[in-house]
Amino acid sequence: MDSDLLQRLRLGGAVPRHVAIIMDGNGRWAQRRGLPRYEGHRRGMSAVREAVEGSVEAGVGILTLFAFSTQNWDRPPTEIGALMSLLRAYAQKEKRSLAAQGVEVQVLGDLDRLDDGTKSAIESIVRGTAGGQSLRLNLMISYSGRDELIRAARLLASRTLSGELTPDEIGAAEVEECLYTRGLPDPDLLVRTSGEQRLSNFLLWQLAYTEIHTSPVLWPEFTRDDLYRAILDFQSRERRFGRVSV
Ligand code: FPP
Repeated sequence: MDSDLLQRLRLGGAVPRHVAIIMDGNGRWAQRRGLPRYEGHRRGMSAVREAVEGSVEAGVGILTLFAFSTQNWDRPPTEIGALMSLLRAYAQKEKRSLAAQGVEVQVLGDLDRLDDGTKSAIESIVRGTAGGQSLRLNLMISYSGRDELIRAARLLASRTLSGELTPDEIGAAEVEECLYTRGLPDPDLLVRTSGEQRLSNFLLWQLAYTEIHTSPVLWPEFTRDDLYRAILDFQSRERRFGRVSV
C-alpha cells in the first residue's frame, strides 16, 4: 500500500461522496493465466474487499458496485452458478467484518430472479449490517439501467392512473423516487477497470454528471491504491454541471 497516495488525497480537496465501480476484466485475468473464468471472479472478491476498505479509509460515503447485470443472465449456467455461489460466500464470510467496519450493505436490482439460497444470504447480510455509519455499500445485482427506468416509468404510470399524480407533476424528483438508488446522491465518480470505456447499461439516470475514470487494471488486481489514484484524478477535474466556470 502506498500511504503517500492517501496523504495526497487527503490534502487534494473534496473526496467524492459517492463512487460507483464497473468491475471489469475478471474473465481476461483468468484466461491470461490459463485458468477458468470462475477463478477470475473468485479473485475479484479480494478486490471488492480492497475497494470497500479503501473507501472507508478515504472517507467515501457511498460505494456502488456493479456485481451482476441483467445481461449476465445470458452467460453459461456454470458461470452464473459460480457467480451466485461467490455472492453467497461473500455475504456469509464478510457480514461480521463489514458490520465491524460500520459498512451498511444494500443489494439492489431485480432480486426476484435469484434462487432462494442467494436471496436468504442477501437478506442476512442486509439485516446484519443495517445501521452501519462509515460506508453505504450498494451491490447491484441482476441490475440494468434501462430496466430500472422502465420500472420507474411503470410505477409513475400507475400512480398517475390512480390519480395520485398528474403527468405535469412528474419531474426529476418523482423519477428519482422510483429508482433503486432512491434517497442517495448521484455518483460523483465512476471507475471502470480493464481499460474499457463503456457504461454497459449501468446507472443511466444517475451518471448524468458523473466524472469517469478508466483504470487499465483488470478487476482481480485492483487495490485500494488504484481507488486512491481514481480519487486523485477526480480531484483534478473541474465539475461544471453544464454551466460555465466563474
Ligand atoms: C466482469 O468481468 C465482472 C463480473 C461480471 C462479475 C463481478 C463479480 C465479482 C467481482 C465477484 C463477486 C462480487 C461480489 C460483490 C461478492 P468479466 O467476466 O466480464 O470479465 P471479462 O470482460 O474480462 O470477460
